[in-house]
Amino acid sequence: MDLETAKKRVEELRREIEHHNYLYYVLDAPVISDAEFDALMRELEALERRFPELVTPESPTQRVGGRPREGFATLAHLTPMLSLANAFDEDEVRDFDRRVKSALPGETVDYVVEMKIDGLAVSLVYEDGLFRRGATRGDGEVGEDITANLKTIRSIPLRLLQPAPPVLEVRGEVFMPKEAFARLNEARDAAGEPPFANPRNAAAGSVRQLDPRVTAGRKLDIFIYGVGFAEGAPVRTHSEALAWLKALGFKVNKHWRLCENIEQVLEVCRYWQEKRFDLPYAVDGLVVKVDAFAQQERLGATMKSPRWAVAYKFPPEEAVTVIEDIIVRVGRTGVLTPTAVFAPVRLAGTTVTRATLHNEDIIRERDIRVGDHVVVYKAGEIIPEVLRSLPGKRTGKELPFKMPAHCPACGARVIRLPGEVAVRCPNIACPARLRESLLHYGSRNAMDIDGLGPAIVDQLLDRGLVRDVADLYRLRVEDLVPLPRMGRKSSQNLVEAIARSKERGLERLIFALGIRHVGERAAKLLAARFGSLDRLAEATEEELTAIPDIGPKIAASIRDFFATPENRRVVDRLVAAGVNTRAAAAAAGPQTLAGKTFVLTGALERLTRDEAREIIESLGGRVTSGVSRRTDYVVVGANPGSKYDRAVELIRSGTHPDLKILREDEFMRLVGRA
Ligand code: IVH
Repeated sequence: MDLETAKKRVEELRREIEHHNYLYYVLDAPVISDAEFDALMRELEALERRFPELVTPESPTQRVGGRPREGFATLAHLTPMLSLANAFDEDEVRDFDRRVKSALPGETVDYVVEMKIDGLAVSLVYEDGLFRRGATRGDGEVGEDITANLKTIRSIPLRLLQPAPPVLEVRGEVFMPKEAFARLNEARDAAGEPPFANPRNAAAGSVRQLDPRVTAGRKLDIFIYGVGFAEGAPVRTHSEALAWLKALGFKVNKHWRLCENIEQVLEVCRYWQEKRFDLPYAVDGLVVKVDAFAQQERLGATMKSPRWAVAYKFPPEEAVTVIEDIIVRVGRTGVLTPTAVFAPVRLAGTTVTRATLHNEDIIRERDIRVGDHVVVYKAGEIIPEVLRSLPGKRTGKELPFKMPAHCPACGARVIRLPGEVAVRCPNIACPARLRESLLHYGSRNAMDIDGLGPAIVDQLLDRGLVRDVADLYRLRVEDLVPLPRMGRKSSQNLVEAIARSKERGLERLIFALGIRHVGERAAKLLAARFGSLDRLAEATEEELTAIPDIGPKIAASIRDFFATPENRRVVDRLVAAGVNTRAAAAAAGPQTLAGKTFVLTGALERLTRDEAREIIESLGGRVTSGVSRRTDYVVVGANPGSKYDRAVELIRSGTHPDLKILREDEFMRLVGRA
């Protein structure tokens, strides 16, 4: 394909992808399947790889193109981003109306009422219809440049659907939908990280990630609610502006109402008081805005907030109940989560009887005891939480909570690693953890047992065929044939795949055991240092931390793992089953890269990163993650990251003139694979 043809096709693909993106993320009404969408994206990516000169910042492929940063630059807003005055009840809303009317004597005033989304305010700047930059509110005058992170939000158009003023600044609220907020906090509990208090903190924390790839994983969304700057915008009222913004391709919340007087406004407020709990995102109030821009201008603003708008805040939904019990559940990653059980109360639209207490530190901080009267609420209108206890109501019979010393599911002694809030069951054969343990054990980069997927693992567990990973090696074809959708051939295949996994070697076995904080990298180092599982099991903390890159956290975790009798039993049974627990003899081939250090950046075409790493290591070289003076080679693929910039800088500045930058073909020649 020549450049001209490619250019045309690239443009066609972008239009089509933008259109489907809009249907999916803004209108919530997709017309093609995910697979069809992926095919379009892949075609565009392939073309942009072949013709890098066609890549533009607003291409749909560039949404997660940003790189981790050191910090955020600042960006000045074109006009100040003000905040809103609050009204806490109907009377205060009527007061607002009186103030407006007395400043506009004799005039009729229309109001728009819209959702006040619980998120964080951002400003987006478009130049000639293209998204150029975005910022947080900051101090109202100057915010932080979060352009790369905002680009990961699919409902933000990178290119507008219609001609727009040459410079357009719009304002909106980035938020995390209730479900995503609940899932994120669950994941944080499971990972032993402190939960976010509300969707606003979750959204702010996500948007301020230095690595846009983390932001991209956070399921953020946006509603645009106003224009900050636009010369010659074809609108005279706020309601017209909302319609115009929508036509430009922005996601505008549909629940806004134009009201002719303050009584209508209050009716809308009353309606949403209860109805808001049915929305998939949290709203902390309603915003009432004077509709006509001419009137807004005459009303003006104070230093902090416009006189033409007010935020009607919903009263916080709280209730008082009595804690009957604190139970402890074991999650699939082994984390013990305390849960409060209390007398049923109505809260934000539902009856609740339980609330997660996250971890023992939070229970201590909030001073929550069994028998206590407590205030409960729903974080983000979705997660029941115990806010605080009411010590004044105590009788003296209340019982402080103590985390159990043993796992409620299997009885193993639990552990709390240094620097973590979570208490965990370390037993990989714990019934609560076993499903995850098995899936991890059989996964590609671990023991690579083809066919050991979630469906079959569930069957094995349901029928009691495996109680730990070592049981896998006792499975016979006859055990598997009766399982649904198995049959003789696939049963044979699975038994053979399990048998083959015995020879994966020590490195993969260590990783497969699922020792907390021991990833592939650490497993490799440990295998090389100790040579056998027995030696690793006996290693002292000093021996472990003596290995570069093995810190006290990993060392403590390894010690705890092997100090758990249940895990020692599993390991013994693996040995008895014939699993090879020794490191393979050192690679036989010529060690042409001995002592050389490599850094990989960007996407290679002929190899995955893992394959490149394997080749380098098989020749005696080392792969590290950061470019430094100790780096010998930087291998550069398509769309390289900041490592490439750093390498260029080190060479150019004379700091490291011997550093070599290799393209993929040069690398292949170096390792003899060209
Ligand atoms: S209008 C000058 N509209 O509430 C007008 N703000 O307390 C200022 N917010 O910083 C904003 N939903 O983060 C407006 N529909 C909405 C809103 C909204 C949420 C937030 C915004 C602002 C804060 C003001």
